[in-house]
This record gives sequence, structure tokens and C-alpha cells, in this order.
Amino acid sequence: MAPPPNIHERTYIMAKPDGVDRGLIGEIITRFEKRGFKLIAAKLALPTKQHLEDHYGDLKDKPFFPGLITYMQSGPVFCMVFEGLDAVKTGRAMLGATNPLTSQPGTIRGDYALAVGRNICHGSDSVENAEKEIKLWFPEGTLQYQLSQASMIYE
Ligand code: PPS
Repeated sequence: MAPPPNIHERTYIMAKPDGVDRGLIGEIITRFEKRGFKLIAAKLALPTKQHLEDHYGDLKDKPFFPGLITYMQSGPVFCMVFEGLDAVKTGRAMLGATNPLTSQPGTIRGDYALAVGRNICHGSDSVENAEKEIKLWFPEGTLQYQLSQASMIYE
């Protein structure tokens, strides 16, 4: 028998400094909430260089790495954890392709961005990385509660 669908999968979503500066925090939250995801943690942050280097550790040898870290420190970021069925994969689909020039209209990047180095929002790319990122950005943990409309989102 197939395992029951995991409606408690979690993903780490982060409005980058351009997303915050352009007033898109509310838009990002609205899109995830309207889709049916539950917000279980959120905060503004001014991460240190070391914190960002930990978050983007896999990219340290990429030529764009120093520019990425500088950009990510150019203003506050807005950190979020959303929970729901297939949160990681669906969250990435809602963000759109990494390079906004190839992001489909209707996605966050496809609607609001033009340059890969200013692409509004980060989303975890695997369940394993989501759990690592949630621990890194929310060492205090996330909140668990029941949405009153849960039975209108899931069968
Ligand atoms: S790669 O090269 O395939 O590993 O990179 P990719 O998966 O496409 O992107 C990983 C993150 O790096 C960001 N990125 C960039 N930032 C600034 N400038 C350039 N040129 C650039 N290319 C990629 C990209 O937005 C990803 O960041 P997150 O925060 O995960 O969206």
C-alpha cells in the first residue's frame, strides 16, 4: 500500500533583499496561502556574511558567489517556512525558473523579475535541504497549529 501523502512537508522560502525592497513580501505570502500552504514561521532578518556563506555553501566555487553574498547582505530578507503537500516541489514551481528570463508568467519570478542576480525569492530545492535550511534560519523552531479550513484543502 502506498504511504499516505505527507501534508506536513516543509519548505524554506525567503524574500531576498530585492523582494523586500520592492514590497513583495505580502504578495509572496498571499500566493502561498491562497494555494493552501500554511505559514508556520516568519521573520525579517539581516543575516551575517557567515550565515549566508553557510546557507549557500554548495555554491562557494561558483563565479557569482561573492556577488550573491554581497547582494544578499544589501538589505533585510524575509524568512518563511510553509507547510503542506509537496511543499518543496510546488514551492519551486510557484517561484519559477531561477533565471527570470525563462520563468513562466504566473510564477513569482516570471511576474516580477528580469535578472538572475535579482530574482526576488529563494525556495528549498529538496526536502533534505529544506530541513537543513529551516534549522539554519529558525533555530528557535517553527509553530504547529491546525488550520480551521484544513478539510477544505485536503480530502
Ligand atoms: S547552479 O550554478 O546551477 O548551481 O546555480 P542555480 O541552482 O541556478 O542557482 C543557485 C543559487 O544561485 C543564485 N544564482 C545567482 N545569483 C547571482 N548571480 C548569478 N549570476 C546567479 N546565478 C545563480 C540563484 O538565484 C540561486 O539562489 P537561490 O537563493 O537558491 O534562488
